[in-house]
Amino acid sequence: MSGKKVSIIGAGNVGATATYYIAEKVIAELVMVDIAEGATQAKALDFLHAGPLRGYDTPILGTSDYRHIADSDVVVITAGMPRKPGMDRMDLLKVNAEIVKQAARSINEYAPNSTIVVVSNPLDVMCRVALRTSGFALRRVVGMAGILDSTRFRYFVAEHLGCALTDVHAMVLGGHGDQMVPLPRFTTVAGVPITALMDEENIRRLVQRTRAGGAEIVSYLKTGSAYYAPAAAAAEMVEAILTDRKQLVPCAAYLRGEYGIENLFIGVPVILGANGVERIIELELDADEQSQLQQSAAAVKQGMDELSTFFKPT
Ligand code: NAI
Ligand code: 2OP
Repeated sequence: MSGKKVSIIGAGNVGATATYYIAEKVIAELVMVDIAEGATQAKALDFLHAGPLRGYDTPILGTSDYRHIADSDVVVITAGMPRKPGMDRMDLLKVNAEIVKQAARSINEYAPNSTIVVVSNPLDVMCRVALRTSGFALRRVVGMAGILDSTRFRYFVAEHLGCALTDVHAMVLGGHGDQMVPLPRFTTVAGVPITALMDEENIRRLVQRTRAGGAEIVSYLKTGSAYYAPAAAAAEMVEAILTDRKQLVPCAAYLRGEYGIENLFIGVPVILGANGVERIIELELDADEQSQLQQSAAAVKQGMDELSTFFKPT
């Protein structure tokens, strides 16, 4: 074991699955914290039992006591409600802001030198709650959404073209919502932009399916939202940070003027490494792409405004 430690707050569908994926990488000891006592211990034990068969010996603790996150290198926040039929955005925003606030306070207390990866929704707004409540440096709080939205786009492109999944790289920027901004010009198959491989109509169709990727799964599941791909995306970020991979990936980062956006978390390409968000990469967007990103930022800003009507960070 590397001597590293990763804690996952919220051991529900996304948190438990992410724990399992990280356990298989054997890169850190793991702690899952959830208010659901019993279930969390049970999941940890179940993962440990699978170790001999799956070939990992990662230590995993399931607990409801936040003190066990002490000295974590990375803390992933997946605690919170997923979207369910009948819930409006504001319901999710209020409930999850309180939960993320509690998690961020505990991270500040017990794991002040960690990097926080936020997963709870609404993602971009929850990143801000985690930043303000933890008091962490800007680069130490980063949100997971762009990798998920991009992997969905990658899959749809590979499926349409009948090409190897691993050859497809995609870039989806913006807030994690209906106004996200898939960028066909920066989405390639072995380096060839998809704009040279498919017609506009098909690109439009795949972009739209990517934007609605989460909702498509909710409509089948009915009682919750996607978790295998979200967990895989969170595990990818944890590995990039722990191994200082300097990976160029779209993540929610706090912008201070980049892309003409001020004081907002939103998905942009970043270099992810041991210091969290080590750089924000500014792509040269054309007028249409830039305008889509501004519209997406406006939607995130609206969520921030809603939040400020009832929420005080500390
Ligand atoms: P889930 O309901 O399966 O799990 C949530 C867990 O949080 C539950 O086990 C619950 O007991 C726990 N929890 C609640 N309050 C807590 C607290 N104060 N401390 C510790 N644990 C607490 O939900 P699921 O599917 O795992 O989703 C979790 C969150 O992640 C949701 O907000 C969902 O919308 C979001 N999400 C975000 C994605 C993204 O791309 N950013 C993708 C998928 C989900
Ligand atoms: C998703 O995109 C609901 O954010 C979640 O699947």
